[in-house]
Amino acid sequence: MNSVLLEPRARTAAPHPDLHRRLHAILGDEGLVQDAQAQSPYLSDWLGKWHGRASLVARPADTAQTAAVMRACHETHTPVVTQGGNTGMSGGATPDASGAQVILNTGRMNRIRVVDPLNNTLVAEAGVLLAQVRQAAQDANRFFPLSLGSEGSCTIGGNLATNAGGIAALRYGNMRELALGLEVVLPDGRIWNGLRGLRKDNSGFDLRQIMIGSEGTLGVITAAVLKLLPRPRSTATAWVGADRLGSLVKLLAALRERCGERLAAFEMMSEASLSLVLAHVPGTRAPLAGRHGFHALVELSDTCASGLDAQLEEVLGDALQAGLVSGVALSAAHAQTRDFWNLRDGISQAQVRAGWAIKHDISLPISAVADFVPRADEALRRLAPDVRIVNFGHLGDGNLHYNVLLPPDTPSAARDGRLVEFNRVVHDLVDQYEGSISAEHGVGQLRRDELRRYKPAVEYELMMRIKQALDPNHLMNPGKIF
Ligand code: FAD
Ligand code: MLT
Ligand code: ZN
Repeated sequence: MNSVLLEPRARTAAPHPDLHRRLHAILGDEGLVQDAQAQSPYLSDWLGKWHGRASLVARPADTAQTAAVMRACHETHTPVVTQGGNTGMSGGATPDASGAQVILNTGRMNRIRVVDPLNNTLVAEAGVLLAQVRQAAQDANRFFPLSLGSEGSCTIGGNLATNAGGIAALRYGNMRELALGLEVVLPDGRIWNGLRGLRKDNSGFDLRQIMIGSEGTLGVITAAVLKLLPRPRSTATAWVGADRLGSLVKLLAALRERCGERLAAFEMMSEASLSLVLAHVPGTRAPLAGRHGFHALVELSDTCASGLDAQLEEVLGDALQAGLVSGVALSAAHAQTRDFWNLRDGISQAQVRAGWAIKHDISLPISAVADFVPRADEALRRLAPDVRIVNFGHLGDGNLHYNVLLPPDTPSAARDGRLVEFNRVVHDLVDQYEGSISAEHGVGQLRRDELRRYKPAVEYELMMRIKQALDPNHLMNPGKIF
């Protein structure tokens, strides 16, 4: 259907003969990476799964330079891959193999333009690291809640373009909920200044929300107005073990009922995920004695200073007594809290070290999670009895990273075959539960073909029409999402 809609007019072979000269005139030596060796970090992703080539890597220093680069690319029909911190998990920031695409890296657009504590907003450029935004908020006695294991290297532009989720989404929402305004350079080089710090604005369609989550396929986000929140003054953290996933779902419900908005994180990992971290991340140790089928890292936080530890202890004590959980360790000190979080944050790295992960970034209604997991386990084991499932994620918002780990020496043809088989089993089941096959990592090139299978046809067609309207020459990140 509608394949004409996305007939690309982008170059797929050699770069335009004028391109280099034009970009050099705009950016100078410091804004262009031409040398093959210097380009190499930009050409593959954090997981090491995707590799590509680029004609040039452009690093504009500001919005005006970005607009000029985009105009030059538009006029020479050059496809553009926007890249932030290159920590994405779906291959969205990696160019294709043609060598015809330009990578537009936002790393030099790294200024925090304004902090406005009275309006509770901050304006950051696209290349500012998430950790820097969190620090700037804290310096102003405010809080920016988005938090990811990659926050020291991912950028605000990338967070917006992927609508990142992370550990605090259950309380504060995804990036979509945290941005009030955007500045975007359109595919033809025009600048849309939508940097409004308003909480109410019904003056027409909300274009900001079309740009958020568009993964570089509609334009280059150059800056954003971000929401700031009151800074939490106290936290209470605990590690919990349970025999069944269903028990953790019940514990989550109890925490919500009794602690309300104070519940700030509810992260889950299976025993197999924890064992993987213990085996591959030096300096880690098990927080609880004995074996527990599933673990949860639970955190409460509040802007008032007292009472959190007692509240958490009470709820978890009741859960222990009721037999809902099989072990509890309340953090007694900052260092212990950090140890708990290191276990959780170590999973991504442990998987890379242990083998080759077939990743599933799925979301389900929370009420369906405990039903889904044993059914998915069983279906995978029918295909491969010795399959190694690494299941963890943000249970508090229904997002599971339900991964399958293949041994590192699996030949690539066998890997590809398993990828297709396992994806089909897991995602068909996700579909039955009316879940999503892409919860927080985006579609990129990883889920592009599957998106077509699982998105309702009308929704897919509307997405294509929006793409066509904003990027008629299909120059923005071709091969990603569509
Ligand atoms: P990149 O990887 O550079 O790009 C990602 C996509 O956004 C690409 O399609 C790219 O074209 C586009 N893009 C980037 N910048 C712009 C821009 N300025 N304008 C338009 N398009 C742009 N993700 C989560 O959601 N939750 C997690 O908990 C989480 N944990 C992680 C932990 C680790 C250890 C790692 C390595 C990754 C994790 N991620 C997580 C994934 C990743 O960090 C996020 O997707 C992040 O938002 C990507 O930001 P980035 O700057 O690295 O973007
Ligand atoms: C996480 O929650 O740790 C991430 O989204 C990264 C991953 O899936 O590896
Ligand atoms: Zn995640």
